[in-house]
Amino acid sequence: MQHKQPVSTHITIRQESPADFQEVYALHTAAFGAENEAKLVDLLRTSMAFVPELALVATIGNKLVGHILFSKIKIADAEQHEWESLALAPVAVIPEYQRQGIGEKLIRTGLERAKALHFKSVIVLGHAQYYPKFGFEPADKWQIKAPFEVPVEVFMALELVPDGLKNVHGTVIYPKAFEMV
Ligand SMILES: CC(C)(COP(=O)(O)OP(=O)(O)OC[C@H]1O[C@@H](n2cnc3c(N)ncnc32)[C@H](O)[C@@H]1OP(=O)(O)O)[C@@H](O)C(=O)NCCC(=O)NCCS
Repeated sequence: MQHKQPVSTHITIRQESPADFQEVYALHTAAFGAENEAKLVDLLRTSMAFVPELALVATIGNKLVGHILFSKIKIADAEQHEWESLALAPVAVIPEYQRQGIGEKLIRTGLERAKALHFKSVIVLGHAQYYPKFGFEPADKWQIKAPFEVPVEVFMALELVPDGLKNVHGTVIYPKAFEMV
């Protein structure tokens, strides 16, 4: 069945629950065409980096159509100064429902909730054409680097509050789960 009409008005965003886990796994596998991100989500749920309030699903009626996760990360400089931030990863919408604003709604809701939880910034590794509309800019602007080689335009950061990244610089330290998938 095709869904050509905007569906964004029918979408509900809520925190995931254990009853969703299997469907969330299938959703990431379908969206990414591989199980890596699905496995990453399972691993992150059991890690210290997990923030339950920032593991969100998008539903239309009883159908789960999207999922997003933000996890705690650190940014550390060579002098061992450390700052807490969040990584947005992964986000996915099932293929039949993509390009209808569901990803945008998940991201905007997640960013609002992260701000309400007093996080100051978010880091994302993703499409350089997609994330700037939410305010993301190349993390290079703050001299924040990825712990691996990556094109500068796809490694982005967002201040959730004014000056949320003021004086923050260094390399992102991801939870171990990111190396395990
Ligand atoms: C990326 C994703 C989460 C976006 O969700 P969505 O509900 O389709 O996105 P929205 O409807 O809010 O926004 C649509 C816009 O996303 C952008 N977009 C979607 N998929 C994209 C892709 N593969 N590459 C670049 N931009 C993309 C486009 O700008 C699109 O706008 P357009 O339809 O006018 O061209 C979804 O497409 C998805 O699950 N993709 C596969 C998994 C993935 O790549 N996740 C993100 C990793 S960074």
